[in-house]
Amino acid sequence: MGTTEIKENIHWVGAVDWNIRDFHGYSTYKGTTYNSFLVMDEKITLIDTVKKPFKNELLHHIHQLTDPTKIDYIIVNHVEMDHSGCLPEIIDLVKPEKVFCSVMGEKAIQSHFHPKDWPLEVVKTGDTLSLGKKTVHFLETRMLHWPDSMFSYIPEDKLLISSDAFGQHWSTSERFDDEVNEPELMAHAAKYYANILMIFSPNVKKLLEKVAEMNLDIDMIAPDHGLIWRKNTGEILEAYRSWSRHESKEKVVMVYDTMWHSTEKMAKAISEGIISEGVSLKLMDLKVNHRSDIVTEILDAKGVVFGSPTLNNGMLPTMADMLTYLKGLRPRKKIGAAFGSFGWSGEAVKHINGFMEAMEMDIIDPGIKVKNVPTHEDYQKCFDLGVQIAQAVKAK
Ligand code: FEO
Repeated sequence: MGTTEIKENIHWVGAVDWNIRDFHGYSTYKGTTYNSFLVMDEKITLIDTVKKPFKNELLHHIHQLTDPTKIDYIIVNHVEMDHSGCLPEIIDLVKPEKVFCSVMGEKAIQSHFHPKDWPLEVVKTGDTLSLGKKTVHFLETRMLHWPDSMFSYIPEDKLLISSDAFGQHWSTSERFDDEVNEPELMAHAAKYYANILMIFSPNVKKLLEKVAEMNLDIDMIAPDHGLIWRKNTGEILEAYRSWSRHESKEKVVMVYDTMWHSTEKMAKAISEGIISEGVSLKLMDLKVNHRSDIVTEILDAKGVVFGSPTLNNGMLPTMADMLTYLKGLRPRKKIGAAFGSFGWSGEAVKHINGFMEAMEMDIIDPGIKVKNVPTHEDYQKCFDLGVQIAQAVKAK
């Protein structure tokens, strides 16, 4: 794959990882990209590098434009290994005049690479760097996605290089948003936000307010993963505004696992109640749906319902995995309810309620427990719970 000139004298020189299938518990079943950018100005500048195994692809791309030893500056927007894994080898080869990073970036570089003589230069929000004809403005974006993260903005090109923010895990031969299927692109962007950034929604909200306050003129957003936004910059900014405020729709996600199908029967009866009220429903069996796809559906749902039978005084391991992952991502403003069958003790519902309380959910019912196999009366109770959930969702 060749390089792509994204703005005059600014080139994509990154790598496409077609085969990665897991990113810290997030199912990346369509791969990803590690975007890196080379600015050909009086000071030749490399912005971000790539994951270690992709170093040769990065160097091959740089070689198409210049001798890598001619690079003057390296800007490290983010120290996580998918963007800095090959940084030590690149610095050894290039011997740059300066390596720019944030205050927290310097600490992260020290603790990751223990460098002795790197020419680090710390920058903070508002600092600028002249490359010749172009200027880089730095903006610290702590916790998007790590404390060290920052944006690099090039006003001459109206270009925001945004590190992890606005990214998608999607490997493509195309580089721009208007070259791919737009609904699929937004679905990948939503999955990325739900699984990586939802926890940092308060930071995203503040950052978007700050960017609006700074009145930056932006006509291209180039994240470090996936497609570059040049047609739909307004749409992705609006989506981030909405997601960071936990805005949601009249939609319920029901997540369950089952042992001998009793909990599944309950899930279907509750579903009927929800659908009877005209509310959209996603019924997601943990045996066939990945946790990261479930979180993506939860992102814009007003209601979430969890069902698990009791196993050894607790819940099924799949549900414990799901709830632990989801709790860490801090969804907010959700209506919640729980249900499950049991043989002799029945603690699963209580434990699920504990997780929902920790996620500050509005628990609208103590939960339904059914001993062994549901009766017709139990089905009616489940249906009624579905109606109650749907009505609460419509009223919210
Ligand atoms: Fe793509 Fe936080 O690294």
